[in-house]
Amino acid sequence: MRRPLLLNGFMATGKSTVGALVAQATGRPFIELDRVIESEAGSSVESLFATRGEPEFRSIERACLMRILNEAGTAALAPVIALGGGALVSRDIRLRALDECVVVSLHGSAAELARRALAQGGRPLLAGADSEQRVTELLGLRATSYAEAQARISCEAPAETVAERVREAWARDEIAVAAGEASYGVQIGSGFAVARIGALVAESPVCVLVSDRTVAALHAAPIENALREAGARVLRVELEPGEAHKNVASIESIWRACLTGSVDRQATFVALGGGVVTDMTGFAASTWMRGVRWVGIPTTMLSMVDASVGGKTGVDLENAKNAVGAFWQPSSVLCDVQYLSTEPARGFISALAEVVKTALIGDPEMFALLEANADRVARRDLDLTAELVRRSVRVKARIVSFDERESGLRAVLNLGHTVGHALETQAGYTALSHGEAVSLGLVAALRLGEALGKTPRDLSERTLDLLRRLGLPASLVGQPLNEAAALIGHDKKRAGSSVRFVLARALGQVETLPIALSELRTRVLALAE
Ligand SMILES: NC(=O)c1ccc[n+]([C@@H]2O[C@H](COP(=O)([O-])OP(=O)(O)OC[C@H]3O[C@@H](n4cnc5c(N)ncnc54)[C@H](O)[C@@H]3O)[C@@H](O)[C@H]2O)c1
Ligand SMILES: [Zn+2]
Repeated sequence: MRRPLLLNGFMATGKSTVGALVAQATGRPFIELDRVIESEAGSSVESLFATRGEPEFRSIERACLMRILNEAGTAALAPVIALGGGALVSRDIRLRALDECVVVSLHGSAAELARRALAQGGRPLLAGADSEQRVTELLGLRATSYAEAQARISCEAPAETVAERVREAWARDEIAVAAGEASYGVQIGSGFAVARIGALVAESPVCVLVSDRTVAALHAAPIENALREAGARVLRVELEPGEAHKNVASIESIWRACLTGSVDRQATFVALGGGVVTDMTGFAASTWMRGVRWVGIPTTMLSMVDASVGGKTGVDLENAKNAVGAFWQPSSVLCDVQYLSTEPARGFISALAEVVKTALIGDPEMFALLEANADRVARRDLDLTAELVRRSVRVKARIVSFDERESGLRAVLNLGHTVGHALETQAGYTALSHGEAVSLGLVAALRLGEALGKTPRDLSERTLDLLRRLGLPASLVGQPLNEAAALIGHDKKRAGSSVRFVLARALGQVETLPIALSELRTRVLALAE
C-alpha cells in the first residue's frame, strides 16, 4: 500500500464506515474530507451548502482536497481518505487523484442509496425532492466521475465484506487508465497472472484465449487451466506468430472459431502474447457481436510498456501498418514480467528505446534509474523490470487519460518516431526493429533540437550514452538519412505542409513544434554531417 486510498462514490454508499474499517485493519490514518472541511469552515456541510450554495462549497472542498493530497503524498504512512460524493466530479482533480492514489468507487442501486440516505436523515442534495428520482439523476450526471477509478465495488454487502474487497483493491495498486465508463486498471508484478486471471473472468461463461503458436507453447496451459477453474468454457485460438500475420485473415480465424464455438456476448477474450496478439485480440473483441470484453496479458516488453495502454487495436492491410482498427479498451491488463524471461533478446532490448523515450517525456526519476542500472536492466532483473514497466505505464496512462481519442496531447508520445518511422520504412521493417529505429529517431530528435537551440547538448549526450549502454543503436553515421528524409511525412500530399515535431527541452519536458516538411528534410540531411 504505497499510495493513499481514496474512497469515492455517491452519498450513503458507506464510504466513512468502510474507510474506518480499512484504516483500522491496515493501521493507517483515516481522513474524512467532509469532517476536515467542517472543522476548517467552522460549520457543517449542510449549512455550508445552505448558506453559500453548491459552487462555493465545491471550491472549498477542492482546495481542501488538494491540500490533503499534497500532504498525503509525503506522509510516512499512506492514509485512507473518504471523499464527499461530488469531490471528484471535476476531471482535472480526478486525474490527479488517479495518478497519485488508488481510487475505489463504491456503488449501489438508486433505490438502496435513496433508502439509506433518507434513513440517515436526508442530505442537502436530496432535500425536498422525490429522492429515488433525484438519486437516479445525480448518478447519471456523475457516472463518469465514479467510473474512472482503479476499482468499483458494490456497497450492497456487509460493511466488513466491502472493506475486505476495498483492501484487496488497494493492495493491487493498479495504474488507472481513465477512459470514462471504459476505464480500466493495469496490474504490474511478477508471477501473478495465473492466480489473478480467474477473478477477472468470473462473470463470463466462455473465454476465448488468443495467443500465437510460440507464446502458446510456452505459457498458455496455466492460463487456460486457471480460466477453466474459474468455471469458464475455454476456446483456444492460436495464430501464426509475427507481424506478417497481423492481418484480416487472422481476425477472420478468430471470428470463425467464435462462430463454431457458439461464443455469445457474455464472452471475455483473453489476449496472451506480444503487441501483435494483443492488437488483434482487442480488434476481434471490438467487432465480435458488436463488442465484447477483453483482458490483455502482454508477454513482451513492448506490449507491456506501450501497447497495454491506450485502447488502440487493429491490423495491417498489405504494407499499411495498423490501417484498420478501432479504439476498444480492455477491461483489465495484467503485466506479469515473469513472461519476459523467455522473450528473445532483440525484442526486449528494442522495447527499452520506448522506455527511454517515456523517461524523457515524463519521468526524470526513471531516466536516472536507467542510467544507474543499465547493466541490470539489460540482464532483465525482474524487480527492476517491473519498476520500469510500472513507471512507463503510468506516464502513458497519464497522457492518454488526458487525450483519449488522440486530439493532440498524445502527440508527445511520438518523440523519436518521425525520423524513426522513416528509417524503419526505409529498412523495410526487417533490418531495423521498431525500437531500434526509435532509438535512432531519438538521437535525430535530440540533435535536431540542439540545432534549433531547444535541446541542451548535455541531455543529448546523456541519452546517447544511455541508449548505447542498453545495447541500442545510437549512431546516425552510415544510416540512410537521404532516403529517410524523403520518406518523412510521405503521407502528406500538400506542398508546404508541416509536421508537428516533438523536441526535448529537459528531462521530463517536451514540446511539439510545427516544422515545414521541406525544412525538416533539410535538417535531417544535415544530421549526416
Ligand atoms: N496498441 C498499441 O498502442 C501498440 C503500441 C506499440 C506497439 N503495438 C504493436 O505491437 C506489435 C509489436 O509487438 P511485439 O514487439 O510484442 O511483437 P510480437 O507480438 O510480434 O512478438 C514478437 C515475437 O516474440 C514472440 N514472443 C512474444 N512473447 C514471448 C515470450 N514471452 N517468450 C517468447 N517469445 C515471445 C512472438 O511469438 C513473436 O514472434 C506491432 O504490431 C505494433 O503495431 C501496438
Ligand atoms: Zn513506438
